[in-house]
Amino acid sequence: MKKQWWHGKIAYQIYPKSFYDSNGDGIGDIRGIIEKLDYLKELGVDIVWISPIYQSPFVDQGYDISDYYKIDPAFGTMEDFDELLKEAKKRDMYILMDLVINHCSDQHEWFKKALADPEGEYGGYFYFEKGKDGKAPSNYRSYFGGSAWEPVSGTDLYYLHLFAKEQPDLNWENKKVREDLFNMVNWWLDKGLAGFRIDAIINIKKTDGFPDYEPDGDDGLVRCTRMIEEAEGIGQFLQELRTETFQKHDAFSVGEVFNMKEGELEHFVGDEGYFSTMFDFAPLETTLGGHGWYDAPGYDFIRWRKAVTESQLLCQGVGFLANIIENHDEPRGASTYLPDYAQNSDGIKMLATASILLRGLPFLYQGQEIGMKNCRMGNIEEYDDIDTKNQYQVAMEAGLSPEEAMEVCFRHSRDNARTPMQWSCEENAGFTSGMPWLKVNPNYTKINVEEEEKDASSVLAYYKELLALRKAPDYVEVFTYGDFVPAYDGEEMLFAYHRKNENKDILIVTNFGTERTKFPLEKSGKLLLKNREDVLLEEDGLILPKCGAAVVEC
Ligand code: GLC
Ligand code: CA
Repeated sequence: MKKQWWHGKIAYQIYPKSFYDSNGDGIGDIRGIIEKLDYLKELGVDIVWISPIYQSPFVDQGYDISDYYKIDPAFGTMEDFDELLKEAKKRDMYILMDLVINHCSDQHEWFKKALADPEGEYGGYFYFEKGKDGKAPSNYRSYFGGSAWEPVSGTDLYYLHLFAKEQPDLNWENKKVREDLFNMVNWWLDKGLAGFRIDAIINIKKTDGFPDYEPDGDDGLVRCTRMIEEAEGIGQFLQELRTETFQKHDAFSVGEVFNMKEGELEHFVGDEGYFSTMFDFAPLETTLGGHGWYDAPGYDFIRWRKAVTESQLLCQGVGFLANIIENHDEPRGASTYLPDYAQNSDGIKMLATASILLRGLPFLYQGQEIGMKNCRMGNIEEYDDIDTKNQYQVAMEAGLSPEEAMEVCFRHSRDNARTPMQWSCEENAGFTSGMPWLKVNPNYTKINVEEEEKDASSVLAYYKELLALRKAPDYVEVFTYGDFVPAYDGEEMLFAYHRKNENKDILIVTNFGTERTKFPLEKSGKLLLKNREDVLLEEDGLILPKCGAAVVEC
């Protein structure tokens, strides 16, 4: 495998609106990020991905961009951004932006011009199609609910939006569109950006002719991914994106890729792959329902372990996946990937150990390092997220009571991860001196950075140790390039694996069960890290209590 500058680094996702507000308007901003760079550096972070900060009407929290070349005033100015780049560089840190190029905002000038003249030049930037018998051109359901086609008033045309109707899909078949997008990507990279996280990218290739499919719901529609899964030839677009932009700058790229076709992993993340890496969503997929959040299966350790293990083995020798336990589209990992009895700081440290030392690039999400959890909202109005509002409706239409639908949102809402970062015990968790744009989780008096910095046994202190271990000069090689080898697979409630190369053999063992248990060790070893005092390494074995985690050099 070719060595790359980003191998062995630690990445961290910032959801800027909720990270840190520097001017008291209740919205996190770029100056707030600058103020917290030292905090991130001390945590062990090298690469920072910032969710969209471009000019946007915020129908989907910035994932609807109306000008790719402007910073939204809510976040600050281009001068602030340039300063952020400079300050990051001073600290040997790298900044990634979010690249949202499957769609733009309906307020983008391209789309305004297109609507004014769908037959003209900019009409060709989008997908305008004639309706069929007074109905939409095909029966696709958008990701956020309802038809993926929106009628254009005064015409017999519809435009395609796989997400909200304010997020029209860009037509990648049009060379002009690709050129404009590539120019924009290069413009940012020329500024000194280290790379991008690439949003919803699998959606850029559509199936010719937009065929109808068998409906999969009472609404007569079918999820739009049905059409995306059938589309052939995305590779050409992605290869062009890479050679025209990332490759020229030796930039880092991480894809948000769902629904990849089998056998394509190497094309995506191999040495000559479209992206440096892509997120491993296999663990997340074990928690998704067939029709919506309401019919999602509960957490199942065995399924989770199987998904993680399979991804690790699949990617070995091919490339690297980016490992996460949460992001801005998912509920908190501490509330999702732990049995009820383990939803405490020992359990959270155990989950961290299991996840951070996997083969691949660790991506932390803001607040994960202090053990932030899902936030209970009083009623549906307290939620901001477009997806949550839709899923609440979906649950009610499936026959759930309002209380049950709220419970579904509590378990799955994207806003669980979007509540403000908890910095201190002060009002509003020290996030803002004003009125926060989204509710602060009331547990901030206990779970916050300031308190955890004072406490050597906190989740935050443990994360620092864990990241430092992963990057320690003696171990960075084995944790970066070493193989992943499952261990103790016969043990029902253990997740354990080796990271191994010619020189080193590190064993990671985590006990998700309820029993204190002793496990024989094949070789003698040295305990590098443990999450509880009563994790013991004895001559003939390792003793792990419930929620115990150990890292042993064999
Ligand atoms: C991605 C983003 C998500 C957004 C969607 C549409 O999945 O992560 O937040 O809603 O794309 O851009
Ligand atoms: Ca602000």
